Amino acid sequence: MLDTASNRPDLPAEIARRRTFAIISHPDAGKTTLTEKFLLYGGAIQMAGQVRAKGEARRTRSDFMQMEKDRGISVSASAMSFDFGPFRFNLVDTPGHSDFSEDTYRTLTAVDAAVMVIDGAKGVESQTQKLFEVCRLRDLPILTFCNKMDRESRDTFDIIDEIQENLAIDVTPASWPIGVGRDFMGCYDMLNDRLELMDRADRNKVAQSIEINGLDDPKLDEHVPATLVAQLREEVAMARELLPALNPQSVLEGHMTPIWFGSAINSFGVKELMTGIADFGPEPQVQKATPRAIAPEETKVTGFVFKVQANMDPRHRDRVAFVRLASGHFKRGMKLTHVRSKKPMTVTAPVLFLASDRELAEEAWAGDIIGIPNHGQLRIGDTLTEGEDLRVTGIPSFAPELLQQARAGDPMKAKHLEKALMQFAEEGAAKVFKPTFGSGFIVGVVGALQFEVLASRIEQEYGLPVRFENSQFTSARWVNGPKAAVDKFCEANKQHIARDNDGDVVYLTRMQWDIDRVTRDYPDVALTSTKEMM
Ligand code: G4P
Repeated sequence: MLDTASNRPDLPAEIARRRTFAIISHPDAGKTTLTEKFLLYGGAIQMAGQVRAKGEARRTRSDFMQMEKDRGISVSASAMSFDFGPFRFNLVDTPGHSDFSEDTYRTLTAVDAAVMVIDGAKGVESQTQKLFEVCRLRDLPILTFCNKMDRESRDTFDIIDEIQENLAIDVTPASWPIGVGRDFMGCYDMLNDRLELMDRADRNKVAQSIEINGLDDPKLDEHVPATLVAQLREEVAMARELLPALNPQSVLEGHMTPIWFGSAINSFGVKELMTGIADFGPEPQVQKATPRAIAPEETKVTGFVFKVQANMDPRHRDRVAFVRLASGHFKRGMKLTHVRSKKPMTVTAPVLFLASDRELAEEAWAGDIIGIPNHGQLRIGDTLTEGEDLRVTGIPSFAPELLQQARAGDPMKAKHLEKALMQFAEEGAAKVFKPTFGSGFIVGVVGALQFEVLASRIEQEYGLPVRFENSQFTSARWVNGPKAAVDKFCEANKQHIARDNDGDVVYLTRMQWDIDRVTRDYPDVALTSTKEMM
């Protein structure tokens, strides 16, 4: 246990010890609490409570905007690095609200695994299900933590059945809860035949671990009351018979998820989960790219931008590009090639996100997330290499589901508004379409809350009042096909044609009927709802 030896012998030890993952959950399941306990065990924070303020701030819309105002906080929480035994964990934060699902999707392209947190009383909730589907698209390994076992929770078999049925994934219990609600006293560690007992008196204390020699060991009876011990023996025997045994390869391929039961607030089950991340994490994986995939052990450094955060300091208009290193050993001051523009870029001030502090990164390895401050050169989907023409693939842009017309509160400031909107588009916070016909801009987002956040940020960061008004269009599709066919199509449908913020042609639609018509009348033209960013 806790051995960083990898079954990929070419992987340098520094890379083999890295685990880069995200937590997915429905709001309130306990993601913030769990993150806090991770950091506590990782020695990254001294006291529980430091991440809490953020969790509370997330609860309401206005507080959410308040938090968004404080760019510093949300940036340092976007990626956190800390050590756990010999391992280096990189935890990448996913936005909690479903209106930011595109951002979440892209974040998940930067991790090698996800921890799914569910509430033991509520089971699989809507947002968990959505995020899980996103992980599935990428065959990400998923480790499950069933939280709040100190409260009344559902029957253990029911919880496992629900995950298996709703998410169509095999579930294997890594631990088994003993007692429920008030009677919950800990878990039987099914992987190591150990008894883990929870200390209700001290919430930050690591559970007491008792070695047991199998379920028949009389030591079990010394620690667990007779009523619960009989039930435990029966349930574990049944679980071993009815549920699949742990198969690490199947976990790696995303077909099986091990589940740990615990209580984040009582620090219970957290250490076992962290050990699970270390054991089944996995280490940094091969990255899909064109014209060839990138292996983490390659000596040359490559990385890609999966997130951009603008205006951390509104006075300076600076941005931080979050880069996942895909291969090699990065050192500060390195000269990398920005593949899209083919221009060299010297990375002089990269940042590592060590819990609540930002630190200059002197070095980093494949698997790490570094922040690169820049003035707008780096966009989502960009690849950085040591010269080779490689582009990381699989970072999509989704067609927006809501479109609105943006209008400057002050007509004299229309040009300024255009600039502000373009910057948000590059950050990935919205899509901006410039119709070929008529004036103004159409802004597209995935969820309505994004309009509110945009309006508030444009006002605060650029001092521009802005109004979002209904547009005659409801959706947008990218237009693909042979140039002659696309030109002919655009000419005949001018009122529907616009350019997105990258200059690509889009077709603005009013209803599904529009799309059906194009499919019928223009067989050479393809309308797509996703676009690769590279
Ligand atoms: P989130 O980030 O997923 O939204 O959840 P968060 O950690 O903020 O937790 C949501 C609520 O659940 C919090 O309660 C938190 O204290 C509670 N919680 C987290 N883990 C456990 C657990 O293991 N057992 C129990 N019983 N509760 C847990 P709150 O009342 O909203 O906030 P607070 O007043 O406790 O801070």
